[in-house]
Formats: sequence, structure tokens, C-alpha cells
Amino acid sequence: MDKMWSGRFSASASSLLDQFNASIMYDRKLYKEDIEGSLAHATMLEKQGILTREELTLIKDGLAQVLTEIESGEFEWKISDEDLHMGIEKRLTAIIGDAGKKLHTARSRNDQVAVDFRRFVIRKNREIAEALRALMAELLVVAKEHTTTLIPGMTHLQHAQPINFAFHLAAYMAMFKRDIDRFESSAKRNNISPLGCAALAGTPHNVDRELTAELLGFDSVSVNCLDTVSDRDFALEILFNISTMMMHISRLSEELVMWSSYEFGFVELSDEYSTGSSIMPQKKNPDVPELLRGKTGRVYGSLMGLLTVMKGLPLAYNKDTQEDKEGVFDAVETAEISLEILKEAIKTMEVKANNMESACAIGHLSATDLADYLVEKCDIPFREAHFITGRAVAKGEELGVDLSKMEYKYLKEIDERIGEDVMEYLGLRHSMNARTSQGGTASSRTEEQLAYFENFLQGK
Ligand code: ARG
Repeated sequence: MDKMWSGRFSASASSLLDQFNASIMYDRKLYKEDIEGSLAHATMLEKQGILTREELTLIKDGLAQVLTEIESGEFEWKISDEDLHMGIEKRLTAIIGDAGKKLHTARSRNDQVAVDFRRFVIRKNREIAEALRALMAELLVVAKEHTTTLIPGMTHLQHAQPINFAFHLAAYMAMFKRDIDRFESSAKRNNISPLGCAALAGTPHNVDRELTAELLGFDSVSVNCLDTVSDRDFALEILFNISTMMMHISRLSEELVMWSSYEFGFVELSDEYSTGSSIMPQKKNPDVPELLRGKTGRVYGSLMGLLTVMKGLPLAYNKDTQEDKEGVFDAVETAEISLEILKEAIKTMEVKANNMESACAIGHLSATDLADYLVEKCDIPFREAHFITGRAVAKGEELGVDLSKMEYKYLKEIDERIGEDVMEYLGLRHSMNARTSQGGTASSRTEEQLAYFENFLQGK
């Protein structure tokens, strides 16, 4: 009968129940948040005259000792203590005696866990945003070197129009910037203190919620206690933020996998971030981007898992909610290592600009330019220009030459309105640089985009 809540029970909990019920083996990750929460709570209790100065000193010193014990690995995490809140409080009381028993005045594990987990999630939103900035900075380094490197722009994975490689990377920077905005806005929006809500209905003790909120770095105090102790929107948000970020990472990874194949040959991942085969000696496998792609699925699972846990829960706290943590911990760890390794893989990969450019010489990438020429120079309606260009492409297929390399005489045969100046329009670099509309691929426009992301990274 060593449970803190054992007063109304006459038999001890079965060890099977302990195993099933406990969260201490994973929620111990929140020990810092928990101790800081207790310190803020005790400080407030003393200021409100609920604890004496001596009691507060004892609690502070005791919690400092518990912290040291945890960080040195001395602390004994016992499944029978159920969760970290009770494990820490029990140890505190063992160290300082009766004063430890007063710490839980005007508090419940329901607001305690809401405080700890919320602060953890807010911190992780901020840290992941920082790691994303570091990844973006690495992409920017590569992009800056390739604002004139041609690469086939694709739709449906078919050659579409020539673009430059920096423009392609800038597309991912745009995604990652939105991800950063999402992580940062979640951190801001959810920075609201649950402390003082107690079990569900508030407390009759004269607490000062504004003070504990301030001590813990929250921007404000929650409005309704019943909502506060059962709300896990903040956890769903970080799971959604990570899922969306991983979806972006997975798309880039898919391209890295393709680009590092013989068929593409656009990049070569460094030896440090590639793996070999146990049977085929020649193999160099892109395990890093493949795993990034794979781990994305697992993160989505955590999001769906928690959404499903939360649906149908009556107010307020229910034990189901304890299932909120493992998926978030796992997704956060996945996000952290994924960002780190992707950054390193990008930093160390070799970009094979020549292969990218040669790949542009197939697939008639400048076909749209011919149509645009017919519209602009010959005053032909676009739909008709599209048809004429289609015939030119068919001719190219017949001759086995790319439109960008076709001799003028063939074009003239297709439509005599086509002037010799068309040859300039069909050049691939011309085609890329012609796309000067805002947000377009022209090198000048791409440089603007890179400058935009650079300013963003510099906080301008
Ligand atoms: N271990 C619990 C959790 O993670 C803490 C809150 C428990 N509250 C309760 N009334 N049983 O959700």
C-alpha cells in the first residue's frame, strides 16, 4: 500500500495493473518541466501565504537534489510510482519530510501534466523551427551555386520546361519556410498556462495563476479549467506540423533517391551518408533519403493515433489522454534526427551539373517557347500555336532531334510564318531566362527568391 492515492483502497494494486497503468517509463522525459512547474507552484504558494518561507526553502532544496539525482542517473524510476509526478513528489517527501506533502496543495496531476507536456511541446516547436532554419541555410548554400544550372522541370515526372537547379531547391525552401511559420505560430498560440486549474474545476485556495504563468514563461492563463485539463490540441498541432514537414522532407527525399540513380545521375550522395549492399559489391544505396521517406509514414501514424484517442472523450481528464505522449516523443525525435541527417546529406552531396544540363537536351523542353513565339511574334492564337508546336515536336520525334536543336528549315516547312529569329527562342537557357514573371525560374527571379529566403534566415 505505497500508493499516494491508496487511502480509499484496502488491497494493493496488482503488479499487472502497475505495468498497464504506468507512464513513468516514458513521461520521465518531462522531469525538467515537472520540477520547474513544481518550483513555480511552490513559489506562488509561499507568496500567497499557503506555504511558509521555511517550507518553500526545503522544497526548493529538495527539488534541486531530485534534479541532481535524475541527471546523474541515480534516481530510481519505479513503475509502482505510476508517473513522474508521483515519483518525484515521493522522492521529495523522502528527502525533506512533511513539507514535501504540502507541495500538491491546490494542484492536481491533471493540471500538472498539462503544464509539463505543453511546455515540452512548445519548446520542441521552437527547437524544430531552429533546426529547419539550419537545413534551409544548407539548401541556400547549394542553391547559390546553381542559379544558372539547367535541370529539366517536370510535371507528371515528364520533361516539361527547363528550369534552374536553384529554383528547384528554392521550392523546398518555400515549403520549409511555411513549416517554420507553423511551428513558431503553434509555439506562440499555445503558450497558455494550465497551472491552477487543479483537477478540473479550479481550486478554493487563493492561488495566483498569473504569477505561475509568468514564472514558467507562459504568455497568459487559460480561460476555462474544464477545457484546460483535457485539451490536447497543442499536441495534435505539433504532430500535424511534424507530419507536414516530414511530407516535405519525404518529397525531397524521393527526388534525392531518383537523382542518385544511374538513370538520372543528377547527384551523388557522399560515402558518409550512403550504404552498401551485403551481396552486391557495386551498390551504393541512398538509405538516408529512403528512411526519411519511410519515417514519414510512422509520424503520420502518431497524428492519426492521437486524433483517434481524443475523439469521443467526455470532459474532462480521462486516462486515455495518457496515450498522448509516446507518439509525440517519437515524432519529435524522428523530426530532430531527420533534420540533422538531411542537412548533412545535402551539405556533403555532389551536384552533377553536367548531367542535369544534358538531361535537358531531351524531351523538347522548349516546346512552350515555340508556342509563345508564335503568339508573340506571329500573332497566332495560343490554341493554334499549341497545335503547330505539336507538329514541330512530332517532326523532332521523327528526325530523332530535340526541338532545341532542330534546323530552321524543318520549322519553316511546318508553318511559313515562323521566322529565323525563332532559333534564339528555342535555346534552353533562353527558355529558362524568359520566365521572368514574379516567382518564375529566370536566374534573375531565382536570385530574388534566394535573397528573400536569406533575409528570412537572417531575421530581416
Ligand atoms: N500520468 C498521467 C498522464 O500522463 C498524469 C495525469 C493523471 N491524472 C489522473 N487523474 N490519473 O496523463
